[in-house]
Amino acid sequence: MMSDRPWWKTGVIYQIAVPSFADSNGDGWGDLRGIIDRLDYLQGSADALGIDAIWLSPINATPFADFGYDVSDYHAVDPRFGTMRDLEDLLAACHERGIRVMMDLVLNHTSVEHPWFSESRSSRDNPRRDWYVWRDGTAPHRPPNGWLAVVEGSAWKYDRATGQYYYHAFLPFQPDLNWRNPEVRHEMLDIARFWLEKGVDGFRLDLMNFLYEDEHLRDNPRRRFAIRPYLAQKHVHDASQPESLEAAKDLRRVADGFPGRALMGEVFTDRPEDCVAYLGDGTDRLHLSFYLDFIRRGWSAVAFRTSVQWLEDHLPECGWPCYYLDNHDLARSHTRLGVGGNAEARARVAAAMLLTLRGTPIIYYGQELGMPQSRVPRRLMRDPVGKRFWPLGVGRDGARTPMQWSGERHAGFSEAEPWLPADRSFVERNVEAESEDSASLLNWYRKLLRLRKERLSLREGSYSAIENTSGDVFAYIREHEGESTAVLLNFAARQAAVRLPEGVAEWHPLLSTHGERPGLTGPECLLASQEALILEAR
Ligand code: NOJ
Repeated sequence: MMSDRPWWKTGVIYQIAVPSFADSNGDGWGDLRGIIDRLDYLQGSADALGIDAIWLSPINATPFADFGYDVSDYHAVDPRFGTMRDLEDLLAACHERGIRVMMDLVLNHTSVEHPWFSESRSSRDNPRRDWYVWRDGTAPHRPPNGWLAVVEGSAWKYDRATGQYYYHAFLPFQPDLNWRNPEVRHEMLDIARFWLEKGVDGFRLDLMNFLYEDEHLRDNPRRRFAIRPYLAQKHVHDASQPESLEAAKDLRRVADGFPGRALMGEVFTDRPEDCVAYLGDGTDRLHLSFYLDFIRRGWSAVAFRTSVQWLEDHLPECGWPCYYLDNHDLARSHTRLGVGGNAEARARVAAAMLLTLRGTPIIYYGQELGMPQSRVPRRLMRDPVGKRFWPLGVGRDGARTPMQWSGERHAGFSEAEPWLPADRSFVERNVEAESEDSASLLNWYRKLLRLRKERLSLREGSYSAIENTSGDVFAYIREHEGESTAVLLNFAARQAAVRLPEGVAEWHPLLSTHGERPGLTGPECLLASQEALILEAR
């Protein structure tokens, strides 16, 4: 079962929102020591999930106005999360267990509180002026162009001190760095090198396709219909510029200087082509790139099948898919995909899909417990987006509540009042309770992860869709050196028939959401309502 393929292809990544995972010092904030204390849950104990890498949400020094995606010192660990020593200990403890550690690197913008920005905004001739994107307005009270920030409003903020506007693709307190300035590019690549030297195994790169904007600040073409102004522009000049692809190459060259490291990019776009572009030929840009189309699909077998097929058809030969259903920006999938149906049954089918598709899966902490999207009361909200648009329910706090370890106070996350309240579901939905229940979602995840470890075809094999199915079923075969595994996923709350490929003596059941099943000697298979069934060709 050993493989010579790199860990980022064969492994499973587990995303940890550091403030929310485990609090070791009783201050209500998750921290790096908390993660060390909980490593048995992830890898190296008898009932560990068995994950291969963790991706930590940003841990650099930050005023924490956007969950750490607003960095004020790239070389420091934020004291909320611990010290540099804690990080070194975490790296050592993870590596001992064979867990790789990926850090979140925010290269597009800093916090307004970063000293670089304080210098830059202090005067027009400050040596760091050009480290950010400053421009004159086109007229009094008119920003330099019509670009919009992802969240809302103009992407330009007027700064009275020097009478110019600075550019911010995201929130106004996150000014964009000017990657066209060679000093900036050099500094950011150096920061990547600094952490790689520390021993981190790679990065999740925030807003990778936003690093550069059009040099001439050309306005974006408009779309006719859109639900909000940002989506009414085609983002051809403010995002996904060819220079950002070159930056991906530069970063790859840096990473390649250290054996076994990997780069995983957030390519924020509505064009799936962009996701693929950041992989280059599969060897010269990022190792992995987020495929947003997948998370934008509703609960439908056809929708997911179509999404997967698109990626399979468009990836470069050496490219490798990367799938996830949850992260810190999305409403939790248990709730999002569960709407209008049996959320628990769907979560099992979704887990089977995520962990058996060709590609690297990312599990978001608590997804394996079925943590729902939490309703955080207005007065306890932290996310600036949630606060700004309250009560629209677009805030992200609901996906960031404390990890549910036990039925004790604060879900066993902390002895103190947590920075965000634990979701009420923790009373039944927690690691302790679910570990004891053989039929729990957590144990279903464990079974799937174990099976994935045992079968090379699931980790490395080819993918081919099985076409002979009803519209309710997403079914596919994974194959590797004579080992063949069929995955049949019934998305519907009714039975569904599947016709498996001919020429197989027996389809032997390996795992089903519906318990034991006899082997199949013919190609016909009847799936129970919302059954996920994994079969081996014998
Ligand atoms: C994407 C991150 O995932 C999100 O949480 C953050 O707010 C923006 N980038 C800005 O950094």
